[in-house]
Amino acid sequence: MTAYEIRGVSKTYAGRRRRVEALDNFNLTINEHERWGIVGESGSGKTTLLKILAGLIAPTTGTVSVLGETLDRGDRVAMAHLRRSVQMVFQDPRSSLDPRLRVADIISEPLRSPLAKPQTGPVAARVAEVLDAVGLPEAVGRAYPHELSGGQRQRVALARALAPRPRILLADEPVSALDVSHRAHVLNLLNDLVRSMGLTLVMVTHDLGVVRHTCDQVGVLRGGRLVESGRTVTVMTHPGDSYTAELLRARPHVRAA
Ligand SMILES: Nc1ncnc2c1ncn2[C@@H]1O[C@H](COP(=O)(O)OP(=O)(O)O)[C@@H](O)[C@H]1O
Ligand SMILES: [Mg+2]
Repeated sequence: MTAYEIRGVSKTYAGRRRRVEALDNFNLTINEHERWGIVGESGSGKTTLLKILAGLIAPTTGTVSVLGETLDRGDRVAMAHLRRSVQMVFQDPRSSLDPRLRVADIISEPLRSPLAKPQTGPVAARVAEVLDAVGLPEAVGRAYPHELSGGQRQRVALARALAPRPRILLADEPVSALDVSHRAHVLNLLNDLVRSMGLTLVMVTHDLGVVRHTCDQVGVLRGGRLVESGRTVTVMTHPGDSYTAELLRARPHVRAA
């Protein structure tokens, strides 16, 4: 099954002084269980792309279908399906986690939504299960986000995303806001969980090293355009576009052997 069919997607923001074309005729097919990394510099349109895939904003033109259904923000039933199957981890857990809620309530929120899949067991049991899956002790459930380290907060964000058993995980620079000391750990965790759960992953990042580690497919985004896409090993060893080659030269240690 196809996770995403993205056809001719463009997004123009009407800025105060000028229009910004954040995405320009973006096309990509993402099959289920693939792990995609979309790499691009700051301002290349990465967050815009993920917000469109999550149904948070609508493209200016073009169409997206998710797991065979056309994404239409006006269609409540289709959006309910989307929220069941697609979850997102945001860049900065300080702003994505509600500071007034305890961790257990943050994690269980997507489970209590009227749009959520009916739970097979008690919500508390699922919270304990996902806390364990991300390597946090159950006691963390009673803590508030500010009592945790950045790495722990991002693990809570991951637990929250996984709690409703999504089929697709979207991740926006999931480790770039963390201290360097926490990055490898959170990335390994994400990697292990996505693989063991057989999820489809769409992760955007400015860091080719992150993609090489986690993703079997890569797309290169430049100024809102997808300049290259394909298997990670192929793109990294034989870049087909001069811009990709430039990115690889800037990060020579990520080049595949
Ligand atoms: N809400 C918005 N209004 C106006 N311009 C925006 C908005 N969001 C993003 N942009 C602009 O769109 C472009 C792409 O932004 P973004 O998708 O956030 O890129 P990235 O995540 O790769 O840094 C940038 O030029 C950015 O300034
Ligand atoms: Mg961004």
